Amino acid sequence: MEWLIDICQCVVRDLDKYGICVVDNFMGKERAESIHRSVVSMYHSGVFVEGETVGLKSNVRSDKITWVDGSENNCVHIAFLIAAVDTIIMNFMRFKKGAQLGSQLNIGGRTKAMISCYPGNGSHYVKHVDNPNQDGRCITTTYYVNKDWDAKETGGLLRIFPQTWSNKVVDIEPILDRMVFFWSDRRNPHEVQPSFRTRYAITIWYFDAKEREEAKLRNNQPLIKSH
Ligand code: OGA
Ligand code: OGA
Ligand code: MN
Repeated sequence: MEWLIDICQCVVRDLDKYGICVVDNFMGKERAESIHRSVVSMYHSGVFVEGETVGLKSNVRSDKITWVDGSENNCVHIAFLIAAVDTIIMNFMRFKKGAQLGSQLNIGGRTKAMISCYPGNGSHYVKHVDNPNQDGRCITTTYYVNKDWDAKETGGLLRIFPQTWSNKVVDIEPILDRMVFFWSDRRNPHEVQPSFRTRYAITIWYFDAKEREEAKLRNNQPLIKSH
């Protein structure tokens, strides 16, 4: 628990400053490897389907996905990951100091966890914003589950184009046990560069309570399911 509180403090600091935070060795090697085994076995069990793109052309993304809440078969380690991320996000308010995190943000729920697989062969996700139209999602959290990843050899970088503090891009290798947090809105367009090896990630989106309520009331646009 205390390790999560320390991480929480760093996440608050980096989100305030950069809108992006990268944490390595998030769960520890053993747990990360257990999560990797679960993800690979789920993938091979055939539960993954093609990723959706609401209202977009179908060549936008070529990953395969499945949604879990942690109670499924073989998901005990993923349940632990979800609980760890929940703990961090729910403790944000302890460290609220910056304008963004202190006064405006009020987390109200999240999606299930989306497990994604880019099955090599140049599979990718073109540059996009997760939440361009106030659907309620405020923080994207992505956990990578790829042993011995070398982006120079097999691509698959997450490239973020931060709009507020830099005109440079931020390149993130999807290495085992790396956790990334970033604002889901137009501040962080990003892409998954073509991947030439099987690439796994687990993503959870957290909702801003007010924005989510308003989106539900409007309900006149494609709305990501809470699942
Ligand atoms: C997404 C996405 C990033 C990644 O699923 O929306 O941008 O690194 N994923 O897998
Ligand atoms: C990997 C891996 C096995 C698979 O590349 O990390 O575990 O599912 N591949 O194809
Ligand atoms: Mn995205």
